[in-house]
Amino acid sequence: MHGAEKLGEAGLALLREHENVDCSYQLSPKELYVKIPLCDALIVRSGTKVMREVFEAAQGRLGVVGQAGVGIDNVDLQAATELGCLIVNAPTANTVAAAKHGIAILAAMARNVAQADASMKAGKWQRNKYVGVSLVGKTLAVMGFGKIGSEVARRAKGLGMHVIAHDPYAPADRARAAGVELVSFDEAISTSDFISLHMPLTPNTSKILNDKTFAKMKKGVRIINVARGGVIDEDALVRALDNGTVAQAALDVFTEEPPPKDSKLVKHENVTVTPHLGASTVEAQEGVAIEIAEAVVGALKGELAATA
Ligand code: MLT
Repeated sequence: MHGAEKLGEAGLALLREHENVDCSYQLSPKELYVKIPLCDALIVRSGTKVMREVFEAAQGRLGVVGQAGVGIDNVDLQAATELGCLIVNAPTANTVAAAKHGIAILAAMARNVAQADASMKAGKWQRNKYVGVSLVGKTLAVMGFGKIGSEVARRAKGLGMHVIAHDPYAPADRARAAGVELVSFDEAISTSDFISLHMPLTPNTSKILNDKTFAKMKKGVRIINVARGGVIDEDALVRALDNGTVAQAALDVFTEEPPPKDSKLVKHENVTVTPHLGASTVEAQEGVAIEIAEAVVGALKGELAATA
């Protein structure tokens, strides 16, 4: 068993009860290809891409890849299926942490916390420059009303926001019970003051926010993304920020991670950024470690069906 990215101690302990565990972090692809034929399972977080080359290098031994988080978009599912490897994930343990981070960067963006902090640290005192906007009575569109989206909705309502949601797969009664109206994609993006993204990255959601969809939004809309960078066309977002369609954006995830050092989006003064921290609380990571350890051990014992 090989752990490619840091996993919480409780999860490692659980794995060690059942398997030999090798933790080597930040391996180059070449180093991983050397190790992988010796492994029955591989555990990664979203920072490691498990592409066809990894499955091929495994020479048939790798039976399970565990993705320690909700998303499984960094695993080549096609190659895994073809080469007979199960993919399991940890779909629940970090949902509240991700939702809270969405709310944290939404609130920080609305009150210019990061910009004001940088300005004070540069010796300035700019009270007039950093006047924010209130959240009370503003409409928030939650795009993707799954586990994370619904936790965001609940918290946003607590902040006095009017919450609507778009999700083609969410049952209307679950939304109704949460006091959230499900609306069409176009209605959600064209009537909201804030738009928060919570959908998985799939061929259908790739660059779902683009020049065309930004053009339908209210002038001065604010965008929050703790889902996946690829759901936004980042060049189009820079254009929308520059022409004032989008007043501000708060982003935890990027098409390329880490983003290029000269990224216009990251450096934009109206953008608040964090380095993919949604799932990164001590508590969430311990929970994820246990959840993924149980899933991987179960899969190795043949007790689990594949996620993908
Ligand atoms: C997730 O998909 O749950 C997270 O992106 C996992 C991570 O932070 O690595």
